[in-house]
Amino acid sequence: MYYSEELIEEVRMKNDIVDVVSGYVKLQKKGSSHWGLCPFHNEKSPSFSVSGAKQMYHCFGCGAGGNVFTFVMNYENFTFPEAVKALADRAGVKLPEMEYTPEMKQRADRRSRLLEVNKEAAKYFYYQLRTPHGEVGQKYLQKRALTEETMHRFGLGYAGKNGALLVEYLRKKGFEDDLIKEAGLATFSEKNGLLSQFWNRVMFPIQDINNRVIGFGGRVMGDGEPKYLNSPETPVFDKRRNLYGLNFARTARSGNIILCEGYMDVIAMHQAGFTQAVASLGTAFTVEQAALLHRYTENVLLAYDSDGAGVKAALRGIGILREVGLTGKVINMKPYKDPDEFIKNLGREAFQERIDKAENSFFFEIRILEEQYDQKDPEARTRFHREIARKLCQFTEEVERENYLQAVAEKYFIRCDDLRKLVISYASQTGLAKPIERPRSGIRQKNSPEENGKKAQRLLITWITDEPALYQKVKKYVTAQDFTEELYRQVAERLFADLEAGNYNPAGIISMFEDEEQQREAAALFNTTLPKLQTRQEREKAFHDILMTVKKNSYEYYTAKLGTDVNALKQVIDGKKALEELAKTHISLDAGQE
Ligand code: UTP
Ligand code: MN
Repeated sequence: MYYSEELIEEVRMKNDIVDVVSGYVKLQKKGSSHWGLCPFHNEKSPSFSVSGAKQMYHCFGCGAGGNVFTFVMNYENFTFPEAVKALADRAGVKLPEMEYTPEMKQRADRRSRLLEVNKEAAKYFYYQLRTPHGEVGQKYLQKRALTEETMHRFGLGYAGKNGALLVEYLRKKGFEDDLIKEAGLATFSEKNGLLSQFWNRVMFPIQDINNRVIGFGGRVMGDGEPKYLNSPETPVFDKRRNLYGLNFARTARSGNIILCEGYMDVIAMHQAGFTQAVASLGTAFTVEQAALLHRYTENVLLAYDSDGAGVKAALRGIGILREVGLTGKVINMKPYKDPDEFIKNLGREAFQERIDKAENSFFFEIRILEEQYDQKDPEARTRFHREIARKLCQFTEEVERENYLQAVAEKYFIRCDDLRKLVISYASQTGLAKPIERPRSGIRQKNSPEENGKKAQRLLITWITDEPALYQKVKKYVTAQDFTEELYRQVAERLFADLEAGNYNPAGIISMFEDEEQQREAAALFNTTLPKLQTRQEREKAFHDILMTVKKNSYEYYTAKLGTDVNALKQVIDGKKALEELAKTHISLDAGQE
């Protein structure tokens, strides 16, 4: 980052977030916030809120959130410096001219150097594909029916057979060997020195949502192993939090996102006009990726391979989507193996039909289950029904559960009453399916102690941001160390330090994070939905509970770390004392009176 922190703060403070967002979204004031339809996902009733006091926005539907910079970055697809520039112009703040001098390059941090070396490598591969050396790659991609336009759009390239050339090229561009190695582009051996990691492969640059190259996948020419070689994780390549193709899919505005298995599937689908296709990065689909998708859509369609492994992956994917409150649907690819083959054989209209007919994930699960039970054997059929009942218990909302129950009963010729009895008996055995009201965000709560601990930490930060005077009352019990999530801790550290110094500046804290995903998470921290409680007693009890949960979680966290973390013992001892004291202390919520 080349602008000083002060300058960035000045730009931010001269751009009131309500004003800026109003330029894009129709807002209406309700209570202390302004509300409108979220521009980052499709919705019919407003769950997008903008707070003038906090200078932040947050969407309770998709979880998008941040300050005025992240809003402009997301809406306009700007990088951070571009957003700063645009907002500085808007407010008439003069920015120093930026030029990339060699000295500046040296000062730039490791991350941006890694991004630069990746970008340069991508350029190198891109040109290689278009030289006579790259003919093998060209032929291969043409055989896979990709047009030049598609290859260009995805920046496809080729890593040649001489592994020294890439290294030579990058060195000439001023990149040190260390950096080239750290980016996973080359490996060193005594015998051969530094050589390209990728060799005789078609190269797929992997981009983040801001179109920056963060890593590569390389497909072998012919039958070598591994078929796809991927860059290792690096400070800029987090495989759990990025998706191939999302940089395009995020603006597809097709009302859904299609998740598939491979890079080639994504590219084939985009070429056929389905620009909402994404894939995970050579690793299994993660909760983080599901949460990322939830920012853009409520409808995720799975287009996994139709073989056994694909079905298994789809079942797993459905579970993960459910964890973040998304109901997935499954696209039937039969008789073809994957979307790439399907589209090549049957074309785009046929695929669109499959999209329209995608199967609800619950019915997909039941259908797969059905195949495992011999439907002619009464004993097996009973077990099948029990399994259905068990699955129905996943729906914690009664209306939803009942709707599914009736639909599945009809489909499998089971009497509704019988199935309902099974559900009740199953639910009472396990304590499941109590009609709990789902939170507004639609994100289902996991009730693991860990998740409760995290949630309490989020609530506490929001509560203190809403009522900063509380900080003075809780600071003798809670420190930033009690926030066991790395990002929460960083936020708490800064928030508490600010409050200690008499500053109140939550929106400024968000600029601390460079990574967009982290900015969003930080913003969400300040915007958790606090319990809606009427009386002062209720509120005080809730606040006390949150404090206790945070402290207990921290106590357990550090207890588990005894012996491996030098800091842990002190935390455990202090934590125990604070917990005991807190248990018998009443904290009054009347501001200004102790
Ligand atoms: P597939 O083998 O299904 O890919 O792996 P594909 O697209 O059908 O391959 P083509 O069509 O033969 O080229 C799906 C994804 O799994 C990861 C890659 O991300 C790939 O896109 N993968 C696969 C690896 O990371 N390594 C491998 O060796 C194989
Ligand atoms: Mn394939």
